[in-house]
Amino acid sequence: MTTENKIFIDGNELSFEPGETILQVAHRNSIDIPTLCYLKGTNGTGACRVCVVEVEGARTLVASCAAPAVDKMVVHTESPKVVEARRMIIRLLLSSGNHNCAVYGSDGDDWTQFQLRVLKEENSEELCPVWGDCRLQDLAYRYQVSGDQFPVTETRYPMELANPFIIRDFSRCIQCGRCVQACNEVQVNKAISFGYRGAATKIIAAGDRPYADSDCVFCGECVQACPVGALVEKDARYRYRPWESKKVRTTCGYCGVGCQLDFHVKDNQIMKVTGTEEVPPNYGSLCVKGRFGFHFVHSQDRLKSPLIKENGAFREATWDEALTLVAQKLNDIKNAYGADSIGVITSARVTNEENYVIQKFARAVLKTNNVDHCARL
Ligand code: FES
Repeated sequence: MTTENKIFIDGNELSFEPGETILQVAHRNSIDIPTLCYLKGTNGTGACRVCVVEVEGARTLVASCAAPAVDKMVVHTESPKVVEARRMIIRLLLSSGNHNCAVYGSDGDDWTQFQLRVLKEENSEELCPVWGDCRLQDLAYRYQVSGDQFPVTETRYPMELANPFIIRDFSRCIQCGRCVQACNEVQVNKAISFGYRGAATKIIAAGDRPYADSDCVFCGECVQACPVGALVEKDARYRYRPWESKKVRTTCGYCGVGCQLDFHVKDNQIMKVTGTEEVPPNYGSLCVKGRFGFHFVHSQDRLKSPLIKENGAFREATWDEALTLVAQKLNDIKNAYGADSIGVITSARVTNEENYVIQKFARAVLKTNNVDHCARL
């Protein structure tokens, strides 16, 4: 290690590259500094202040996600001052909006008004849909903070349900801005931004219109980036709890990119899909098809055996019978009208390997280049 670009975090002497933030150096060295608004791959905004650390010689605590590492800097990530600041920030966030996540309060009486309110609502539809999968809730547990220290602010904006994929629950939004960064800096769709000012601040699309009336392409990057329950997949909401599902890693079959994704599976049913973080080629990002186009898997309309049409009606057949009939018909057509009278339509819903085999069959066996695919969801 050179004598320059050296930083001390919690007593550990660490080197850093110029431009790296304190948070980046810490995370690279497996030192856990909690974050809420920080989104990897984007510029830290310092919006939530949860990542504050104590820097010796600094007048105030600094947001480690936005503060660059400086040579000989001495940093404390869990000092009493830091912990007290984080507890206050979490308290304020829990008090602002609808965060009824049954956080156990140890910073006051055993049963707080907050808990009693949560208990009353536990069986209601209002219980947060991401209970158990929420960074704010995790932090509340970690720092043993409940949300009854300040008056709860009223919900200003109604929930948006007007599209088939994403529910926007503004009452649970902590305005961390991760969705805005995910949309603007990661996917570069530029469909959402901060709107209004002060207490009226809201994440808006197209001058505060519903997602469906904006430039949103429903890639769902914002949903994956949301650390709380403000943006959730419509179909997954209230169908399962995170601990009831297991993640099954797979490769998207829609196109040739090979995006890595995780099926969240409960009782052998896919509840939702997320992009696999930190893994090429997509590093957690997905398109609308990869994220939301999985319902065909469990569709009751799926064919389970071949069908042969006779006298205007389909009847079930064996594979041998169906394949023999198709081979016969294709041969007849080819002999009568030539190979180019035949075309093959493949599907975006089968694997790349299957599509490869189909085009090979068309070109090598049928002797036609008439190959296309249907890409509709
Ligand atoms: Fe650093 Fe929010 S994570 S300010």
